[in-house]
Amino acid sequence: MTQRTLVILKPDAVARGLVGEIIGRIERKAGWTIAAMELRTLERAALEQHYAEHEGRPFYQPLMEFMASGPSVVAVVEGERVIEGVRALAGPTDPIAAPAGSVRGDFGTIVRENLIHASDSEESAAREMKIFFPRFS
Ligand code: PPS
Repeated sequence: MTQRTLVILKPDAVARGLVGEIIGRIERKAGWTIAAMELRTLERAALEQHYAEHEGRPFYQPLMEFMASGPSVVAVVEGERVIEGVRALAGPTDPIAAPAGSVRGDFGTIVRENLIHASDSEESAAREMKIFFPRFS
């Protein structure tokens, strides 16, 4: 089942020099490829669309500010079961609860600064690619 997913390496991952490490883990998965990738400081308008479902939640404003605070790497990753796969590679939202071996488990401590976003379904992937890489939608 070949899929595409939208991945964001968040500003903490870029600032801490973890892009190569995280992208390396994605690249080493059999058959997965980076279909698009760009270093980009995300604009408020794009972030509002991306996180629309979380508007009004207590973490919404801090999350938006953090995500706009510096450059991120946005990417489209393609391959077998890549939607579920990148989520597994990232680990759960809270890095302290994330297992060793996952990106968040290995490198994170703070929930807001949890290094990576990955689409959680085919519908989300299509919606998110439309925001950040319209040529893939
Ligand atoms: S839910 O309830 O399952 O939809 O929420 P969840 O997927 O865990 O989180 C949604 C996004 O919000 C981020 N998040 C936070 N950011 C900052 N502070 C706090 N406390 C916080 N809690 C959750 C979380 O990382 C998700 O963002 P993405 O970019 O999808 O990882």
